[in-house]
Amino acid sequence: MRKKVVLITGASGEVGQALIEAIGQSGSAELLTFDLNPLPEQLRQYVVRHVQGDLLDTILLGRLVTEYEIDTIYHLAAMLSKSSEFRPDVAHQVNVSGTLGLLRLASEQSQWRESSIQFLFPSSIAVYGMPEIAQSKSLYNKVREWEWNQPRTMYGCNKLYCENLGVYYSQYLRQMASSQPVMVDFRCVRFPGLISAVTVPTGGTSDFAPEMLHAAAQGQNYLCWAREDTRIPFMAMPDAARAMLQLAHAPKAALSRRVYNVTSFSPGAQEFANLVQEAFPNCHVTFQPDNKRQAILDSWPADVDDSAARTDWGWMPEYNLFDAFQSYLLPAIKARYR
Ligand code: SER
Repeated sequence: MRKKVVLITGASGEVGQALIEAIGQSGSAELLTFDLNPLPEQLRQYVVRHVQGDLLDTILLGRLVTEYEIDTIYHLAAMLSKSSEFRPDVAHQVNVSGTLGLLRLASEQSQWRESSIQFLFPSSIAVYGMPEIAQSKSLYNKVREWEWNQPRTMYGCNKLYCENLGVYYSQYLRQMASSQPVMVDFRCVRFPGLISAVTVPTGGTSDFAPEMLHAAAQGQNYLCWAREDTRIPFMAMPDAARAMLQLAHAPKAALSRRVYNVTSFSPGAQEFANLVQEAFPNCHVTFQPDNKRQAILDSWPADVDDSAARTDWGWMPEYNLFDAFQSYLLPAIKARYR
């Protein structure tokens, strides 16, 4: 008999690590993890098996479903916004073809087991593209899910399209060749920039904030490639893992949509630097904007409206900006670099 598992792709990435820890500590599921990279040693205790491989390797994925009955998929693997701009064609392969392959796997699995498969997907503020008029970010504050869906990056285009693929697979797919219904329960959170005390991001455009904090905690100065007045939404990493789990556990009847904004705080880059320098007075932050990355930041909203998530499944971040620094980031990051 196949072993029932929850599959996490992109398991060795930032969100993956936070999610494995959260699920692992609750002991609520058997985890099968998948990533191009090895799983950090301290997380191995929480997983049944880690598979190191490429998501586009359909034979490898096919072999996994002969061994495991996949109950839920957290599909986190993706190339982030900055990396995707270097090789948009590769990003499209990884982000879109990778997701399509997994949606297909989920639909087949649901037919074999004759019951629903949950498919949790992290999307991003990169799906938004704000108009290039001065003050547009303050004019269109608290952007709702269906507004300004005109992404300016390959990553944003990929995420928006994959959201739509997920909705298609769960609501509209007609299996012309089969009488068995497909039951993919696709649920998606659009994350803001994420800040972890234990992992350092690479390849993203919101990375300036966590990079600044991690540099300061190591006693280094930081040359910030975002402008002082840059404002985008952020969230502490434990809240990101909690948001995904909370959405996964929400009763289906309570959900009025399949794609939800979630956010917590929207500090300006200078404001964030002030908090960092207050905590680490030896760190000096200077600003030298990189035009290309700044253009991406300027196209993302200053804040998003996450009221649907709050109403439908009780979303509420545990950490506002102050609490994130005082209760999570500073204690954990000081311990990390001690
Ligand atoms: N953190 C992501 C990035 O910067 C945005 O969701 O690419």
